[in-house]
Amino acid sequence: MRKIRVLVVDDDERNVVLLTSKLKADGYETDAAWDGLEALEKVESFSPDCILLDIMMPKMDGYEVLRRLKASEKTQHIPVIMLTARRDIEDKVLGLDIGADDYLSKPCSLLELSARIRSLLHIREIQTRLREMEKLAALGQLVDGIAHEIRNPLTTVGGLARRIKEKVSDKQAQGHINLIMQEVERLENMIKRIDEYKNAQVSELREGDVNDVVRATVEEIKNIAWGKGIGIKLSLMQDPPALLIDKANLKKAILNILQNSVEAVDKKGEIAITTAPSEGGYIELVIRDTGCGIKGDELKNIFNPFYTSKMTGAGLGLTIAYKIIQDHKGDITVESPEGKGTIVSIKLPLVMKDLNKQLTVES
Ligand SMILES: Nc1ncnc2c1ncn2[C@@H]1O[C@H](COP(=O)(O)OP(=O)(O)OP(=O)(O)O)[C@@H](O)[C@H]1O
Ligand SMILES: [Mg+2]
Repeated sequence: MRKIRVLVVDDDERNVVLLTSKLKADGYETDAAWDGLEALEKVESFSPDCILLDIMMPKMDGYEVLRRLKASEKTQHIPVIMLTARRDIEDKVLGLDIGADDYLSKPCSLLELSARIRSLLHIREIQTRLREMEKLAALGQLVDGIAHEIRNPLTTVGGLARRIKEKVSDKQAQGHINLIMQEVERLENMIKRIDEYKNAQVSELREGDVNDVVRATVEEIKNIAWGKGIGIKLSLMQDPPALLIDKANLKKAILNILQNSVEAVDKKGEIAITTAPSEGGYIELVIRDTGCGIKGDELKNIFNPFYTSKMTGAGLGLTIAYKIIQDHKGDITVESPEGKGTIVSIKLPLVMKDLNKQLTVES
């Protein structure tokens, strides 16, 4: 993983050495610029996650650098800490007015420097996540709006097609009407899945037993699987620690994965489900099936909304599962070794107290 990058901009060499060595000790990657023009070049080439910016510098002062950074869409979100002379209130006010995120008085305490950077990066991370959520919410609203608009006309088209079918005897016309009805069903299924996606948007995490959720999900799908002659084999860990889960949403995620398996497996096939502790403080839930598998070039698309290889699929099952597992701070991966079906692995994090227990036992 890429280290967090901090750019130090100051024409005073001692200051740069002092600040960068502290930042390196804190685990950041650093670079330095000695004047305003070089600062702008380094922002371009070094792509910092945070900038410490002196005010009085040759060629271009800190205010002008700040103005340019905040005027560009690409750089306006990079947190900037202005370095100001101790008693210069005007400096601080002007810097904050232009858009500085914080300031430090020179000479600054290195402990304070670390704390301010940590806090700014934390705020920036939350802001970034909020922006992404806003974008997703806007997209969700759009999709939801379209679904709402086509729901009623679709019912009309489906209903009328059924009535016409009863009255028409011509074989070709009947075939066309069947096609209309099939397509209507496909779109109705898609709308149902969009509703499901919307309803899975918020996970409320509470302590719960993952095995219980697995059993409840299997209970829901077992008749369909058995009806197709597919066996379901469970191998669940004993006394699993309580995890932070939203039972209803987690069940929805697992159900979507099992539905895919049931759809992919032929007669006499099998679905095997296991739960077990996994490295790094996780419980791993693995669902393997002996179905048709997924081709290598399709694997990269399977979590994308509306990606489907099925005639009547909406392509939302794995999108729903992915979103839910992300909300559980977990991880979901899919493998499909050639000729060996599909393996879906879900990792869910242990609650902190259990993680500590695990670390104590292992060390
Ligand atoms: N267990 C599996 N075996 C084979 N292919 C799979 C499996 N799981 C997923 N896929 C592939 O991934 C695609 C996307 O799955 P996803 O569940 O998101 O959508 P879908 O099943 O096509 O439609 P929906 O779930 O919305 O009804 C599927 O169309 C299929 O090609
Ligand atoms: Mg599916």
